[in-house]
Amino acid sequence: MAKMSLTTAGESHGKALVAVLEGLPAHLAIDLEKINADLALRQSGFGRGGRQKIEKDAAEILTGVRDGETLGSPVTLCIYNKDYANWQACMSDGACDKATKSAKALTKVRPGHADLTGVIKYAQEDARNILERASARETAIRVAAGGVYKAYLSALGVEIAGRVKSVLDIVDDKEYTFEQLAAAKATQTGIVDKAKDEAAVERIKAMRAAGDTAGGVVEIRVKGLKSGFGGVMTYAEKLDARLAQGLMSIQAVKGVEVGLGFEAATRSGKEVHDEIFYAEDKGFYRTTNRAGGIEGGMSNGEEILLKVAMKPIPTLMKGLQTVDYATKEKAIAAAGRSDTCAIFAMG
Ligand SMILES: Cc1cc2nc3c(=O)[nH]c(=O)nc-3n(C[C@H](O)[C@H](O)[C@H](O)COP(=O)(O)O)c2cc1C
Repeated sequence: MAKMSLTTAGESHGKALVAVLEGLPAHLAIDLEKINADLALRQSGFGRGGRQKIEKDAAEILTGVRDGETLGSPVTLCIYNKDYANWQACMSDGACDKATKSAKALTKVRPGHADLTGVIKYAQEDARNILERASARETAIRVAAGGVYKAYLSALGVEIAGRVKSVLDIVDDKEYTFEQLAAAKATQTGIVDKAKDEAAVERIKAMRAAGDTAGGVVEIRVKGLKSGFGGVMTYAEKLDARLAQGLMSIQAVKGVEVGLGFEAATRSGKEVHDEIFYAEDKGFYRTTNRAGGIEGGMSNGEEILLKVAMKPIPTLMKGLQTVDYATKEKAIAAAGRSDTCAIFAMG
């Protein structure tokens, strides 16, 4: 079987987003409704901006699936951008309308976004040529691809759940069972605790009123992964390294923790390492899981526990100080119909 790989393509306001998934086995049942339910979740959550009102994301399968099952050939997924209709004049692959293109140009480069470094690196004058790809609109097609991989993992008995642990200084410190995490999907911010969810909504409202933005922390748990996934023999195989790479590649993610993460550095060995026991009926087991289910770059059979930190959204309604890339003059950074907080969607 070919090595599994995922490639995504597509501009935020272009015709469509696409993904090519190689290396999937044949006979994997693909349920488009489940994928579209995940896409709807990605569009939800308190604090989102105007774009979500325009799009109603639905994935289409272009290749690799017949009669509801994968064929073992590359699977291609596609999400058409409804907003393209409003942008065609300046996002077309053919000749663009010069006046529209110039009106939609972004030169008041936003701190915290890819704009400034991108225009310099790719020798562009208009940061739109950068932001169209930097934009987290790309995560829509990654969520769709994730739905296919979840079907694969589910066939192996692996389940994934998550919840928002904090928004700014509002922290839900409660411990939840894996099953209780399902409740996060029905909340406003992804925070399971009702009072904290409400408090986070109020904090996001205050940020919006101030023209400011917010981030937060998401907890991810993976149940049912058997011992031995990943590898210790080469750095590239290490499961924790590969998960961190995948998670850090999500727009605005600035930190990933495995198990205790940074807290492990503040504790002694006795307070960190999970002691090993053996019983005939269950084999080797632990009574704690501070390692977050990964030792030596390999899953150890316990739940995989991860935390992901998202920085505040870089497009502020009251833009930050910047320089206009075209004139090199002092300017206020471009603002738009941006999200105030997208932590629910990031989860
Ligand atoms: C679900 C989601 C939605 C986002 N929405 C916005 C947004 O509306 N406006 C914005 O400026 N950035 C948004 N971002 C973050 C930017 O895409 C990101 O900060 C930017 O591409 C720069 O990359 P970096 O933060 O990873 O360095 C969003 C991120 C995610 C995960």
